[in-house]
Amino acid sequence: MRTNRIVISFFAILLITGCHETPSPVITGRNITAEHGMVVSAHPEASKTGISILQKGGNAIDAAVATEFALAVCYPEAGNIGGGGFMLIRMNDGSTDVIDYREKAPLGASRDMFLDEKGNLTEGSSTETRLAAGVPGTVDGMIRVHEKYGRLSFREIIQPAIDLATKGFPVTEGQAKTFNSNKEYFLRMNASRPAFVKDGEWKAGDILRQPELAATLERIRDNGRDGFYSGKTAEMIINEMKRGNGIISARDLDEYEAVFRKPLSGEYRGYRIISIPPPSSGGIILLQLLGMMEPWSLREAGFHSLKTVHLIAEAEKRAFADRAEYAGDPDFVRVHADILLDPEYLKRRFIDFDLNMATGSMQVKAGALTGYESDETTHYSVVDDYGNAVSATTTLNNTFGSSIVVEGAGFLLNDQMDDFSVKPGTPNMYGLVGGEANSISPGKRMLSSMTPSIVEKDGKLFLVAGSPGGSTIPTTVFQVITNVIDYKMNIRQAVDTGRFHDQWLPDYIMFEIGTIDSLVIKGLKGMNYNLRERTTIGSVNAVEILPDGKIAAGADWRGNNTACGY
Ligand code: GLY
Repeated sequence: MRTNRIVISFFAILLITGCHETPSPVITGRNITAEHGMVVSAHPEASKTGISILQKGGNAIDAAVATEFALAVCYPEAGNIGGGGFMLIRMNDGSTDVIDYREKAPLGASRDMFLDEKGNLTEGSSTETRLAAGVPGTVDGMIRVHEKYGRLSFREIIQPAIDLATKGFPVTEGQAKTFNSNKEYFLRMNASRPAFVKDGEWKAGDILRQPELAATLERIRDNGRDGFYSGKTAEMIINEMKRGNGIISARDLDEYEAVFRKPLSGEYRGYRIISIPPPSSGGIILLQLLGMMEPWSLREAGFHSLKTVHLIAEAEKRAFADRAEYAGDPDFVRVHADILLDPEYLKRRFIDFDLNMATGSMQVKAGALTGYESDETTHYSVVDDYGNAVSATTTLNNTFGSSIVVEGAGFLLNDQMDDFSVKPGTPNMYGLVGGEANSISPGKRMLSSMTPSIVEKDGKLFLVAGSPGGSTIPTTVFQVITNVIDYKMNIRQAVDTGRFHDQWLPDYIMFEIGTIDSLVIKGLKGMNYNLRERTTIGSVNAVEILPDGKIAAGADWRGNNTACGY
């Protein structure tokens, strides 16, 4: 890539001066290699949108913002303007930044808002209601990050999403199935029929048009954040709240602000790992896992061997126990990331286990310092020809969030309030325990596991990676990184190979079917591990910069992930 810099600069000048050179053709696939730029996302139309922005001379941030808005149209399962996320940026001068556009609890929220008079969780109240919605952050996040880093106009960047919503796009086979299986639910949750519901069944290639969403995006194009957080869109959100027991107010919308934060970083076997700070727990868990593994040779222990699975599972139990106790919104609680990532702390944290026997989860407590998430989230990775990179993960929480579409505005509301510890100290429905640090407070951000990450080798951009998968996100990203660094896999192999996951509670290792050798499974059972099979874990979209500067994509087979490069 870098060897072509002079040619590319010349090309950029030609573009700026209005001469029309034909850009290199776009290559599309799962595991492609390109010279100039790459976008890897969960939907072919979103990747196409991102790459078209790069080809127009936009940088990785322009392309990321365009991809995010495109995902809101063509991947409503998780792409959104009614949700939030985290974006990690590494510019070509090595500087890094994070935009946190995580949702916030409305000002009318309170600690026990999802509990009944006996103090028990009212089933479904934190996921299937208007009350479950946090104040959306995506629109403000995209506008702010574009203002700070973008090269093209906001209008140019959002327009492809408007076109996708107006003209429609062909749904994938997977989407046709998901829309069909959610049809009754959509109808039950909404007074008016959402665009995802049609007479008869969806099939692959059918065109989904979303005129109301297109009009909302046009208001954002024409009025910036006021096109969403005030005026007609805000009115529609407030009216939607009134249709149920929602509490997002005009003041909540008006006061929402995405924030720039300093990324977390650490060293692993000479590589620099950059990731997301709280209110995501993802970066802390990832860096804790790598820190605990540093003294052990995973390569010598062998890929997916009994020893390796045991070591990683023991480390994961400890990282998740710490998460439950300490992690929350840093604007409300002191998270102690510095102590949790201190190599001395991690050394002490990872000595009290037996190499031949599993430590039962009840024996693992949070380390002494002197939530849950659903699976449906989505990650995209972008690298541009200037050497800038973006790693972004965005979500509505559950698939289609609360499944409630804001009437007239055409977008789905998140159900992110469920990522708080709705009842601190008690395992939630996914078995993950959260503590006081993540209890509900007005204006607080709920804890996340999103882990968009970037790895540097010899001070240069090397990997860009992230995944959906709720609590499995940080362990998925950890495995991709160790697959590359310890097991010398290329990005395609690192993404495609099987995965496993242990989150302390519930007390079992979850593994993808066929991933772990039957002898290793027998050995793990003999060590008192409980094991559970699962079809897939995570769905990574990653990029690797090869030694010759070319850009290789790893678009996970687990989904409709697609890379576009040129
Ligand atoms: N709702 C998924 C996450 O934030 O981790």
